Amino acid sequence: MGEAKKLFIKTYGCQMNVYDSERMAEALGGQGYVATDRADEADMILLNTCHIREKAAEKVYSELGRMKPLKEARPDLKIGVAGCVAQAEGEEIMRRAPVVDLVVGPQSYHRLPEMETAVRQGARALDTDFPEEDKFAHLKARPKAARAPSAFLTVQEGCDKFCAFCVVPYTRGAEVSRPADRVLSEARDLVERGVREITLLGQNVNAYHGHDGSLAGLIRDLDRIEGLARIRYTTSHPNDMDDALIAAHADCEKLMPYLHLPVQSGSDRVLKAMNRKHTAESYLRLIERIRAARPDILLSGDFIVGFPGETDQDFEDTLSLVRAVEYGQCYSFKYSTRPGTPAAERAQVEDGVATERLHRLQALLGEQQRRIQDAMVGRVVKVLFEKPGRLPGQMGGKSDHLHAVHVQAPDAAVGSIAPVRITESGANSLGGVLA
Ligand code: 5AD
Ligand code: SF4
Repeated sequence: MGEAKKLFIKTYGCQMNVYDSERMAEALGGQGYVATDRADEADMILLNTCHIREKAAEKVYSELGRMKPLKEARPDLKIGVAGCVAQAEGEEIMRRAPVVDLVVGPQSYHRLPEMETAVRQGARALDTDFPEEDKFAHLKARPKAARAPSAFLTVQEGCDKFCAFCVVPYTRGAEVSRPADRVLSEARDLVERGVREITLLGQNVNAYHGHDGSLAGLIRDLDRIEGLARIRYTTSHPNDMDDALIAAHADCEKLMPYLHLPVQSGSDRVLKAMNRKHTAESYLRLIERIRAARPDILLSGDFIVGFPGETDQDFEDTLSLVRAVEYGQCYSFKYSTRPGTPAAERAQVEDGVATERLHRLQALLGEQQRRIQDAMVGRVVKVLFEKPGRLPGQMGGKSDHLHAVHVQAPDAAVGSIAPVRITESGANSLGGVLA
């Protein structure tokens, strides 16, 4: 084999894209590629894109514009677009961006090796099918290289919920679960390679049905894997939080006390218009049940402000819900029109109004995050060390509650878990000393 070709992947958007990028790198490894973090020395550049909000797609086009000179300097450079923008506008990308050689949608990554061969021979390749086969079963096994202590593992893709604002059901397709035995063997393999924490991924992960016992059943099987220390899952829909999953939070030791449970709005009128199929009250009752099972659980969420038709009162209802829940961490967005989704046809909230609401919401969420972080000071928490910190002798890691923690621990090994006394609370992380 000649000298290895170099692959540069830029990943946008969610954690599932991070996972997919790893798997694409592995698939192209079989074609003789090694990873590089420099676009200017790459033989192939892949943009793994996100389509969830407007600006994400525009970023892709401007990034492609910036790649023109790279391609002029290196005519053999191949440029590919993957991910949800590829799925949604594959042909448009081919037309609008002649620098692009390859467009591949999220359900077709197992076809990358043959597509790569085709583009090396000078063709342009486009694949945005929703094939029947399991793409992960057809991707090459992960090589046996050592891994960072925390890994993502996709168990479920797609969504059947059709929230009125969201492109996911169109870009990732219908809900599909991977069989539990495949997930479990991939998990065992990760653990053999040094992984201590696995985050199960799915657009609607708690709708997982690849195990007789649903997601809770899968978590309980994972819980028995020796060497695995922590299990997390994301992202969940309130309507799929079943009793078994709530019970798992009470008695499954490795399941971490953190839950990302988006509600989007606190107004029943808006929730109905969003097609969320739950109310603010039912969400609050659900949170109560989850907290009864696991009192110290840290809750996280997603919010959209300025959804078409949202009034001042609707927005006040969102603030009230936030006050009632007390979140440890949240993501909030201004509504962004996605062509092809039901809400795109409706009258929009004025941009200035939406911006002001976003600022008010973020101020409140920021206060809550800070309060919960500050309350950790003085407590002893378990930290999984992930990498050396910024200062000499420092290690960086995550607590059970997913707080980033910097610890003075010169002798600690990456992948070890140690009790840490929290001594300070900063803007987005905690500091502590070995307890
Ligand atoms: N506009 C704004 N935010 C959106 N999200 C999804 N679609 C849109 C949209 N059209 C947000 C939701 C979701 C998160 C992943 O992104 O809050 O939970
Ligand atoms: Fe999108 Fe999540 Fe709603 Fe599915 S449940 S449509 S992924 S926001």
